[in-house]
Parts: sequence; structure tokens; C-alpha cells
Amino acid sequence: MLKRIAVLTSGGDAPGMNAAIRAIVRVGLSNGAEVFGVRDGYAGLIEGSFRSMGDRDVGGILQQGGTILGSARSVEFRTIEGRQRALEQLAKQGIEGLVVIGGNGSQTGAHALNQMGFPTIGVASTIDNDLIGSDITIGVDTALNIALEAIDRLKVTASSHHRAFLIEVMGRDCGYLALMAALAGGAEAVVLPEIKTTVEAVKDQLVENFARGKSNGIVVVAEGATPTLEELMAYFKTDSPTVGYEIRATTLGHVQRGGAPTAFDRILATTLGAGAVEKLIKGERGVVVGRIENKLITTPYEQVIGRTKGIKPEIYALAKQLAR
Ligand code: F6P
Repeated sequence: MLKRIAVLTSGGDAPGMNAAIRAIVRVGLSNGAEVFGVRDGYAGLIEGSFRSMGDRDVGGILQQGGTILGSARSVEFRTIEGRQRALEQLAKQGIEGLVVIGGNGSQTGAHALNQMGFPTIGVASTIDNDLIGSDITIGVDTALNIALEAIDRLKVTASSHHRAFLIEVMGRDCGYLALMAALAGGAEAVVLPEIKTTVEAVKDQLVENFARGKSNGIVVVAEGATPTLEELMAYFKTDSPTVGYEIRATTLGHVQRGGAPTAFDRILATTLGAGAVEKLIKGERGVVVGRIENKLITTPYEQVIGRTKGIKPEIYALAKQLAR
């Protein structure tokens, strides 16, 4: 049984991370371990920025978005020297194991530490939902609901003015959020990183839509899509009179990462955090803890790192089919 463990949050913050931290601290303490929080992800690990966490330190955070520990994308930690410094800091504190709450980049770092001999365990957390090892990751549900609220509002004003809105949602490499927002928001078109399309194809969709008598057009564009929102807007600026609708663009950006986590995210984060810390204390390591088919599942880092989950083509086809 491990007696001194630490937890960090890394990469893009996700609503629900605090619920996971709370569960890790309280379940860790109730299993007789001392729990330390690391400030600002791997950057804080390298600097030795640890703080001992008690039950009261995680009180009142369940309902808060963001992460009370802070997060960062550390360039130094990607180097061997950075990782060695992190290991030295962990040894100095007498810490025996680490829980890493984060997405792909964060779990890659955790895998590296584990390979260097230090026990780590991952908690699947990213609004992108691209991490292998969990059907759904912490923060996705909240981010999706925020995007949907914006889409619903934009649809109202779009209808009043007979406009089409291009709405950019987050997802540099993964179109999950965009696709699900399009499906649940009743979008006329969706542009994803995984399925390349052309500006002309998006225009044709809007023209068809206009001809069907629809009062508005919603096009959801993922951040990393081809074409990008900028490319689409550049095209429509010169070509918009032939579309029928006036075109406007809105980028939702980091708005999707803020705000209170939904009930779903709180429960997911709580159960994943609790499961991860129990497993780590008992000696399990080198895995990501996620939820697959409604069961708590561990997936070895080797099956997670360097891969992404991708989108479901049948959902894409359904979103297209419904846009009529
Ligand atoms: O990985 C989560 C995410 O929100 C992506 O969807 C987005 O591309 C990226 O983070 C933005 O990163 P940053 O917060 O560093 O701008």
C-alpha cells in the first residue's frame, strides 16, 4: 500500500477536474495515505510545487469549473532533463505515486514517468473526448451543453434575420464536440478535422437549405477542421450573395471550458478519481482509468498513447441525413 501520493491536473482544464481532485484527496485520506496537490501540472512538478491536502482543502469545489491546482502545458517536461528534475522533486518529498488528471498530452507524460520507474495512473479528462480508454472523458458533457446553449441562442437571432451562422467549437484534432453539437443543435452542416470537405460543399448545403425554405442555417465548424472557419468566411465574403442567407461567424473558444460542471461530469469525475486513487494505493500503475460501457475500466498506457478515438461515421451520416 502506498502511503504518500500526489495529484496533478495537466493540459487544457476541463469542468469536473475539481470533482476528481476532491475524490482523489478524500478517498486517498480515507485509505490512510497522505495526499499532495501539485500546482500547475508538470511545470509545478519540475519546480517541486507541492502542497499537503486535507479534507477541508477540497471542500466547496465539487461545483466549480476549472482546477484549483492550476494547469499548464509544460515544454520543459517534454525533455528527459525536465522529467528527471520532476522525479528528483518527487523523491525529495517522499512521494510514491502520482495521479494525473488530463488528456492525451498529459497521459503521455504520465506514461514517460511510469516507464522511468515512478508509479503513475491516469484519469481520463479532456473536453475533446479523443482519449482512448473512456467512452466519455471528464468535461465533455459540460462543454457540449455550453456549445449547445450558444447554438440555440444563435439560431434564434439567425432566424429573425434570415442568416446563416458559422459557429466554431473547440477541438484542434478531434471533431467529437463539433459533431455532437451539430447533432443535438440541429445544424445544417458540420465541418470536422476527420472528414475533409470544401468551401463549395458547405455553400451548396446552405443554398439547398435556403431553397427548402429554412429561415436560418447553422454550420458547426471544429477548430481544427478543413476548411477552417477563416477559410470559410473568406470565401463567403466574396460569394455570399449567391447563398441566400447573410453569413455571420461566432467563435465559442474557451467559453466552452469554463462554468460549473454538469451533474454527469461531477459524477463521472468523482467515480474516476476515486477509482484511480484506490488502484494506485493498492499498487496498480501504468493505466488510464475511464468509463467504458458504464463500467470503470483501466486501459494500459501503451494502448492509449499516440492514438485518438476518432468520430463515429454513422453519427456524421445521421447529422447529414437530418439536415433537411
Ligand atoms: O484539449 C482541449 C482544448 O480545449 C482543445 O479543444 C483546444 O484545441 C485546446 O485545448 C486549446 O488549448 P489552449 O487552452 O492551450 O489554447
